[in-house]
Amino acid sequence: MSSFSISRFRALFGVFFCSIVTAQSFAQTNPGDSIKDRKWWKEAVVYQIYPRSFKDDNGDGVGDLKGIISKLDYIKSLGVNVVWLNPIYSSPNDDNGYDVSDYRNIMSDFGTMADFDELLKGMHQRGIKLVMDLVVNHSSDEHEWFKQSRSSRTSPYRDYYHWWNAENGKPPYRYSLFDVNHDAWRYDSLTNAYYLHYFSRKQPDLDWENPKLRQEVFNMMKFWADKGIDGFRMDAFQYVAKDTTWPMFPKGFEKNFNQYYGMVTGLHGYLQEMHKEVLAKYDLMTVAEGAGNTYEDAHNMVDSARRELDMAYAFDGIDVAKQDGYSLLKFKRIFTRWDSVFADQGWLSIFLANHDNARLVSRFGNDSREFREVSSKMLSTFLMTMRGTPYYYNGDELGMTNPGFTKIEDYRDKATLNEYQHMLNIHADMTAYLKEIAFSSRDNARTPFQWDDSQNAGFTTGIPWIKVNPNYKTINAAEEEKDPNSCLNYFRRLTKLRRDNLVFVYGKYTLLDKDNPNIYAYTRELNGKKMLVMLNFSSKTAAVNTLYNSVGANRLLDNYVGGAGSNKVEVSLRPYEAVIYQLR
Ligand code: GLC
Repeated sequence: MSSFSISRFRALFGVFFCSIVTAQSFAQTNPGDSIKDRKWWKEAVVYQIYPRSFKDDNGDGVGDLKGIISKLDYIKSLGVNVVWLNPIYSSPNDDNGYDVSDYRNIMSDFGTMADFDELLKGMHQRGIKLVMDLVVNHSSDEHEWFKQSRSSRTSPYRDYYHWWNAENGKPPYRYSLFDVNHDAWRYDSLTNAYYLHYFSRKQPDLDWENPKLRQEVFNMMKFWADKGIDGFRMDAFQYVAKDTTWPMFPKGFEKNFNQYYGMVTGLHGYLQEMHKEVLAKYDLMTVAEGAGNTYEDAHNMVDSARRELDMAYAFDGIDVAKQDGYSLLKFKRIFTRWDSVFADQGWLSIFLANHDNARLVSRFGNDSREFREVSSKMLSTFLMTMRGTPYYYNGDELGMTNPGFTKIEDYRDKATLNEYQHMLNIHADMTAYLKEIAFSSRDNARTPFQWDDSQNAGFTTGIPWIKVNPNYKTINAAEEEKDPNSCLNYFRRLTKLRRDNLVFVYGKYTLLDKDNPNIYAYTRELNGKKMLVMLNFSSKTAAVNTLYNSVGANRLLDNYVGGAGSNKVEVSLRPYEAVIYQLR
């Protein structure tokens, strides 16, 4: 969550069917390999699809489920085996589906339940599993629960949400990430009370202390699990538990609000209850957004003996990059530390981009004409060769870039727009703010997927809900299909390499040349197989100094065109070069 830098889931038949899917699509070990605690979700490459921007089938300018169905063969061709779909439930779309008004229906913009069933079937037929977003820190204010809750203080739904009666004065300040006034308490005259919303006013927080609410959520999860989905990504879940004695927080707490909002007492109890009631009954992959404030917090959510969740999704790595760049040394320290802390117990997600952040190549690479392709491939190499489950955001396989919006009118994201209004209200430097959001706004990652060079990048025949990046004429899937050295085809080689070599999933990670400010080099080692990965994160040729300098090795992959090169480990790498060797 701290990544808001702009200030801020089977019926019996399903189980049987999915075990066939598992055998087809996940890596096989060689006889003799011994790997502790193998799981399909550890061996997965997750492809995140932002449905609103992926492919519009009916020409209304908004991506939809039929659009995704039409692209299933493309998704399969990427070599990914799990898709995480951002929310597709009924929603008034204040926050693009993260404000759910009916958890058991499909958003009308996206299609129907029949479309969903077809999509799920099409994925399973191709050996791809489906992880759904579970948005239960809050609902929409248009959800029936909230409508009832606000109707009267004595409504049976009153305690589904957090209310503060106004006769008790103003509630202790809580920071809202999306509110124009940053105020998480919203006065509602109907019952003369304030309700809590950590996100927008249209996203009231659910009260997890209420066992009835928890049961509603668990039943809803079973509804989707019985349909045959394969997992849940739990949105903002680290915030669900709240200290409802509502203590005053120190002035300025909002600068470190995670420390106050994240992992509050009660959370682990809720997760253990969810595990017992739902998760233990299905073969589901579970990941919560955010991993708390400490390594211990993260372990406490995912260590298998605790029976809570499967893997942690921590923001430290993605948060390193700021508008003015980032330090590779710090980046290496963070990923190395997380790996070591999870080496024996627990499991991690590996990601550098998603729908809440800038584009991968614009944030961590170099999106100039000269270096976009090579740096994008280099970053993909990193993501596909680290221990943990990679989450790869749609469009990054093409090297899509930030669109470079210059006007507030181009933005659609509520968080960005509300913060803009906030900055206006406080007479901030708006030129500086526009510059900042051109780097950090969530809309940077939400422009339509660039399929081809036809109008609107082949995304829609209508008017796209958000502008298409003008570079679609040259950066698009159709163009990249034709080029064996494109980012797209390179990404396919990477997923195949990971699929064929479990060493990249489970192998021991060792950092090399630790103090090198330009190069990230590491080995991965499993059952006698040892891979060496060397990545130049800089725009200059850079020396690399490891134990393996000039030794003979099999070069498995190089992101430079015609980079089959020599089979001796290089002592220097070209700008943004990425090389993978198998050591002999
Ligand atoms: C999560 C989602 C983000 C959403 C927020 C509120 O952080 O990733 O897109 O706006 O939660 O649901």
